[in-house]
Amino acid sequence: MTDGTPVHITRQHTDVDTAEALANDVRAGLSGAQKTLPPKWFYDAVGSELFEQITRLPEYYPTRREREVLERHGADIAQQTRAQTLVELGSGSSEKTRLLLDALTFEGTIRRYVPVDVSDSALIAAAEACAGEYPRLEVHGVVADFVTHLEVLPSGPARLVAFLGGTIGNFEPAARADFLSRIASTLRPGDAFLLGTDLVKDVDRLVRAYDDAAGVTAAFNLNVLAVVNRELGADFDLDAFAHEARWDAENAWIEMHLRSLREQTVHVKALDLDLHFAEGETLRTEISAKFTRDRVAAEYAAAGLRLAAWWTDSAGDYALSLAVPG
Ligand SMILES: C[S@@+](CC[C@H](N)C(=O)[O-])C[C@H]1O[C@@H](n2cnc3c(N)ncnc32)[C@H](O)[C@@H]1O
Repeated sequence: MTDGTPVHITRQHTDVDTAEALANDVRAGLSGAQKTLPPKWFYDAVGSELFEQITRLPEYYPTRREREVLERHGADIAQQTRAQTLVELGSGSSEKTRLLLDALTFEGTIRRYVPVDVSDSALIAAAEACAGEYPRLEVHGVVADFVTHLEVLPSGPARLVAFLGGTIGNFEPAARADFLSRIASTLRPGDAFLLGTDLVKDVDRLVRAYDDAAGVTAAFNLNVLAVVNRELGADFDLDAFAHEARWDAENAWIEMHLRSLREQTVHVKALDLDLHFAEGETLRTEISAKFTRDRVAAEYAAAGLRLAAWWTDSAGDYALSLAVPG
């Protein structure tokens, strides 16, 4: 920090809340016919760092494409929103956010940046870096779950809520509809919602983006097992599972799975729970839905939002859209 402005960090949950939430997700998600875990558990300090490496992979185009849209249209976003507060959900390293902060600083409206993330290591590092780079900006980092804590995030006039990185694609359709409705109900007149969505495209490119040659995405995927081992005393053998990415054409989403390489039973000590995996059985760790403009507009409308602007990169791979209440 250059001017001594303190970075304000608040936490919406305790370590006990986090352990309980993981325990609930493991109990509920690993007992069904298709075992699943929500993707938020990827993001401990190791997972957040692996995600940063993913964003630099040649196969992982979404980050570069989203950056291009922000470079080309940051000024449009700033002029249309004249945001005083930028709340960013799932902000991670806030790397691309600098382009928005620059545009809003040039517009002369921004006063406060509120990055929100479950990953406290990523959140604190990003908040401190932003406070140092933007000494006039009030930076208030919030360690929180953007699903459970959406309604308690800081409000204020001319608020822009940004949700970048295509993270919206991790919601199943019903959960996404609910999330968008709740976003709509938190927006006041003069507020706006900025959403990054990866677009439907050639299947080979999509799959490669989630199954890179260097194996970084595989390490990221397997890291969720290390998180469960550490937090709940489970004994997952990471060498006994293989990363898999596949395209589900019917749902228009990529799925990431961990495939059990042999029949095995995993014990979760904190839950006194045995998890049986047949050979070849998979644990689904993420979906990443891909969108079209019509679909985004329809989902906004269903949620009580109006599509106010739509910008894509030059290749048409990725879109940023701006939505307003009503
Ligand atoms: C796909 S990354 C995107 C990061 C960054 N926005 C970008 O565009 O590069 C998803 C981010 O959302 C965070 N995240 C995932 N689930 C979350 C949740 N339920 N609540 C808050 N943050 C979450 C992760 O820690 C991670 O930083």
